[in-house]
Amino acid sequence: MAVAYEQYLVPVVFRPFAENLAAKAAALRPGRVLELAAGTGALTSKLLAAAPSAEVTATDLNEAMVAFGAARVPAAVWRQADAQRLPFADGAFDLVVCQFGVMFFADRVAAFAEVRRVLGAGGRFLFNTWGPLDTHGFEVALQAGLERAFPVDPPRFLATGPHGYADPAVVVADLTAAGFSVEEEQKLTLEGRAPSVADLATGYLTGTPVRAAVGERGDGPEVRAAVVEEMTARLGPGPGTAPMMAYVFCAAA
Ligand SMILES: C[S@@+](CC[C@H](N)C(=O)[O-])C[C@H]1O[C@@H](n2cnc3c(N)ncnc32)[C@H](O)[C@@H]1O
Repeated sequence: MAVAYEQYLVPVVFRPFAENLAAKAAALRPGRVLELAAGTGALTSKLLAAAPSAEVTATDLNEAMVAFGAARVPAAVWRQADAQRLPFADGAFDLVVCQFGVMFFADRVAAFAEVRRVLGAGGRFLFNTWGPLDTHGFEVALQAGLERAFPVDPPRFLATGPHGYADPAVVVADLTAAGFSVEEEQKLTLEGRAPSVADLATGYLTGTPVRAAVGERGDGPEVRAAVVEEMTARLGPGPGTAPMMAYVFCAAA
């Protein structure tokens, strides 16, 4: 999964937002940075480039992601960690960053409280979360492809997973419940550029939990063919662009 994620999805969907978040992080001039849900290191590498003097500790729940990220971005210290139970001392960091990870935390208030615990006084928590599914041009097309492949009971992972924490008022309420004060909330739309729509479909179908959702329903070459056909009908074969919307938050501990 990590290889397909890095090859097909990171350049199109994740890198544009990583550049934005890394620039915001660098402006805070942090010394000790903790990254949560770092995946293959899309943000980690941009962070190290934007803030070269920062000590970056990158973590993820998934061991395979940590192994891949550690090989790809060796300048960071990598460690497996669940954001809800961080293996770090109180006040160990100045800044905690997280790109498109918070929506996957089962208990977000508990995770945010953990983040606050490991931040020192004056520390900041900087992260982003996707807007609703209908604001992500590539994933609207992917969902239509999944509905074409599985007209009865199509996978709903996109709406409930990555796009399932898309109300900024709920995010602010959760941050406040964990003791943070929200300093910045930004609605940010960036354009993704996909060299090949078929490769993008491969990325989603093999490099994300969509793979398991499709597998449960009976995967096969006809599924990929239906998804690629529908995505191509909507986006063209590529190269092509689509808007992607996210919310960016910065909160003080
Ligand atoms: C969409 S990926 C984002 C990866 C990376 N930040 C990026 O921008 O490419 C979501 C990541 O969240 C991680 N994740 C899910 N639940 C987690 C948890 N409870 N604690 C830490 N990481 C978690 C997954 O393993 C996955 O790598």
